Amino acid sequence: MYFIGIDLGTSGLRAILVDQFSNFIASYESKYEVSNPNPGWSEQDPEDWIKACKLVFKELQTNFPNEISKLQSIGVAGHMHGAVLLDKLQKPIRPCILWNDTRSHIEAENLDSQEKVRELSGNIVFPGFTAPKLLWVKNNEPELFKRIETVVLPAGFLNTWLIGAPFADMSDSAGTSWLDIKTRKWSKYLISVSDMKIEQMPKLVEGNQVAGQMRADLTSEFGFPKDVKIVGGAGDNAAAACGVGAINEGEGFVSLGTSGVLLLSRDQCNPFTDAAVHTFCHAIPQKWYQMGVILSATDSINWLSRISGKSAAELDQLLPDQPSGPTIERFFPYLSGERTPLNDPHIRAGFSGLGQTSDLAKLTQAVMEGVCFALRGCLEAIRETGASPTSLLVIGGGSASQFWLQTLSNTLNIELEKPKSGEFGAALGAARLAISYMIKEPIENIMSKPEIEKKIIPDQRYINLYQTAYESFKQGHSNLKGLQ
Ligand code: XUL
Repeated sequence: MYFIGIDLGTSGLRAILVDQFSNFIASYESKYEVSNPNPGWSEQDPEDWIKACKLVFKELQTNFPNEISKLQSIGVAGHMHGAVLLDKLQKPIRPCILWNDTRSHIEAENLDSQEKVRELSGNIVFPGFTAPKLLWVKNNEPELFKRIETVVLPAGFLNTWLIGAPFADMSDSAGTSWLDIKTRKWSKYLISVSDMKIEQMPKLVEGNQVAGQMRADLTSEFGFPKDVKIVGGAGDNAAAACGVGAINEGEGFVSLGTSGVLLLSRDQCNPFTDAAVHTFCHAIPQKWYQMGVILSATDSINWLSRISGKSAAELDQLLPDQPSGPTIERFFPYLSGERTPLNDPHIRAGFSGLGQTSDLAKLTQAVMEGVCFALRGCLEAIRETGASPTSLLVIGGGSASQFWLQTLSNTLNIELEKPKSGEFGAALGAARLAISYMIKEPIENIMSKPEIEKKIIPDQRYINLYQTAYESFKQGHSNLKGLQ
């Protein structure tokens, strides 16, 4: 039996083909663009996701016809919070407004201050979340707002195309500010305070439940069996947690991806909004997770790479493998504002401590350290919920840098486990959701942990130096605010 997991990411769509034991068979990726029509805006055309999905399905059909003829089901994971507005014909009315778009900060503040909103949704209403985006559309594009039949999330949109009827999974829907995350049901109250109607919300399913059957015209177009099922799928962070087997209380990871995430799986739903901690439904029933999110992790290195004309790998080569204490230069990675722990969409990034000897190597070090200090802020916020992780898996593109990994371990002062290269990300998590509906095994067996390539232990010689640097980093927010 074979399964497909799709990760609809910010820079491209990736599909992996696996067997029922999660063994990797093949993967294909197709890239697309993000458009930034105005400062703080971030959009994508949902039709580009369909084009990308068709391309990767064609590759699978051409290169793995035998496996594809035994395809059982498909799971889709996607970048979270994006608003895809569908008309009566299930066609997008406008480009999708993405997770890192901050245009609706006023609407978010207004919603966040309404009674019971944090309590029911379990979260601060961040500008990147879905509900304030809809209020923005109502205020700024009223004609389009009137045409909205249904709102779906990015992964939900792909699923709507695959099945022919809209639906939403629990983990992604928890990031809309419309879901009562404790009862895992749409909240009429939350929906009405953002001027939406419950009829505009798609049917909810758990990540590993069947949402429907794939459209007959699509199964025949790609040579798939007629009865391929589509499962609920997940938001990308919940899917990544399934990919690394972080499903039980206290298991988690730290991710150096476009955004930076520090995530712990939880058996209970105990929202904690004080330090901008996110609490969302997990992709499996009766589980939740809590996480801190920073908006620019590898995005900060990508920015330095753009302005220096050196690739991220070339920048990394300017540094030794082992850091020997933090540099005097500091970077505050607020290129797109910040979520955890600051909840400040207006703050912007900055350097401090620059001198005549500040060269590109020092700036690269400062950028990597700044991201680590910001993730330390996420760890402190997560600790305030009562959790005390002593070891975390480390994933994401940034974990290819040994210097960055060791800096992260020194800054967090916890052990990090780096998986062996291979599949363990959101695409695998999505495939595992597809497997777990079909294969009646304990979920822990399906969502197993990856093999570990190495453990990164905090270097005790430098811990105090990173601690002192972190204390000074914490002053950065108020100092930068004073300058803006
Ligand atoms: C989570 C978040 C990001 C996106 C990016 O709240 O906004 O991690 O899901 O993929």
